Amino acid sequence: MQNPISPFVMVIFGATGDLTARKLMPALYNLTDQVLLPDRFFIVGVARRSFSDVQFRSLMLEAVNRFSRNKIKDEVWKQLEKNLYYQQGLFEDKEPYNSLIPRLKSFDDELGACITRFFYLATPPQNYSQILSHLSETKLSEGCGQGSSKWTRVLIEKPFGKDLNEAKKLEEQLSRTFDEKQIYRIDHYLAKETIQNILTFRFANPIEWLWNKDYIDHVQITLAESGGVGNRGKFYEGVGALKDVGQNHLMAMLAYIAMEEPQTMTAADTRKMRVEVLEKIRCQDEKSLDLNVVCGQYGPGLVHGRQTVSYRQEKDVAADSLTETFVAFKLFIDNPRWDGVPFYLRTGKRLANDTTRIDIQLKNRESKLFQQFHLIQNAPGNVLTIRVQPKEGITLRLLAKVPGLVYEMKPVDMDFSYSTSFKKEIIDSYEKILVDSMVGDQTLFATANGFAATWEYITSILNGWGKQPPPKFPNYRAGSMGPAESIKLIERDGRRWMEH
Ligand code: BG6
Repeated sequence: MQNPISPFVMVIFGATGDLTARKLMPALYNLTDQVLLPDRFFIVGVARRSFSDVQFRSLMLEAVNRFSRNKIKDEVWKQLEKNLYYQQGLFEDKEPYNSLIPRLKSFDDELGACITRFFYLATPPQNYSQILSHLSETKLSEGCGQGSSKWTRVLIEKPFGKDLNEAKKLEEQLSRTFDEKQIYRIDHYLAKETIQNILTFRFANPIEWLWNKDYIDHVQITLAESGGVGNRGKFYEGVGALKDVGQNHLMAMLAYIAMEEPQTMTAADTRKMRVEVLEKIRCQDEKSLDLNVVCGQYGPGLVHGRQTVSYRQEKDVAADSLTETFVAFKLFIDNPRWDGVPFYLRTGKRLANDTTRIDIQLKNRESKLFQQFHLIQNAPGNVLTIRVQPKEGITLRLLAKVPGLVYEMKPVDMDFSYSTSFKKEIIDSYEKILVDSMVGDQTLFATANGFAATWEYITSILNGWGKQPPPKFPNYRAGSMGPAESIKLIERDGRRWMEH
């Protein structure tokens, strides 16, 4: 069978950075291992430091050894490494782009065809605009010298701007340089297996009748990480949890939970439905900001039994930094399906554990039959939990009759877990992102309108924060589940965060 992926060249800007090491190279290695890539392709890493192709290859091998989920096989690595090249240069200078012109042409010449060019922006966001300008000025963005843009695609990582205005400017620049069908805006949560499955779970099973305000009390979305910022202090400073994760990954999960059913599985229909619901998020008003939004920054603490330092003591972080490493917020979606249903979202670093989950609390059933059972009133039952990671799966907590002579009820779990139901590894979202961009499928990529909608909401919070006195940080202990105010945010409504 012919490989659906044609020979290509991928230029990675930011090739010595964290994302390339942790995600892109291990993904390229796994795709090579599964023989999903064509025999010949070209990866050109661009970064500031000076390396030869050979040095770059050994740097990438180190990364794959360190971050790949499987043990590296020599023959697979050899197959990948022969396709890796390096181009030294500063993103703001013209030289690296000028050097790329003959280099990319030599690849076309080698294969005797115009091969598709991917430009992967894996740099800090402040470099995006310069890179796009240079790609356009040098006409690299136009592809193989034919004035036909169909041979190029751009992949761009979040955070996409730093507020609504910046995101709009970036969009304008992007759309001056590329057509929409060439732009792949990455939010890797959209490509996670367990998130994609939400569509199947909701719409391939006959449960839609309960997916609304009549049956759902509230929804919780948690993306908790026990890690700190590690070596990413430079990137994280001034970005913070709200923009790093809140504007994108939390919203990607929200969109899948809350969207209406698309007519087809095509990119156009699914993206349209995701955007429609994001546009219905009610913006945060300044008056109730303190009630609905909580931010935090970690102090020192014990994480998994190990003493850790405060955020302000991390590498490349200012000693008086005001960047938030935690955020929790409550929002509403103004449409008939979700009228009055609160969504509680939170994310943070240096929390007690690594868990991403979505908890859907169903309303208690008002049944005369069981009125005598006090349990129904405070039932911890009736929760549907989607475990995004780890222990991927879905649990439905239900009430069941305890076996015995007296009638007694208890919550029990009905559990679906990927590891027992499918004897298959869950592929990493970056493998999916790379393959989909190569075959030209934009379904699992964000859209300009979707990002504009989430930025509008996030910017309403940022504007409110901008008018408040600076927060008193640090305000949570590493190894906890965030600031005490985050617990109050939900308990004020008579509800509780669900843990484990
Ligand atoms: C990235 C953020 O986009 O997502 C990181 O920049 C975060 O700060 C990461 O740690 C979480 O992704 P995952 O796939 O590890 O849950």
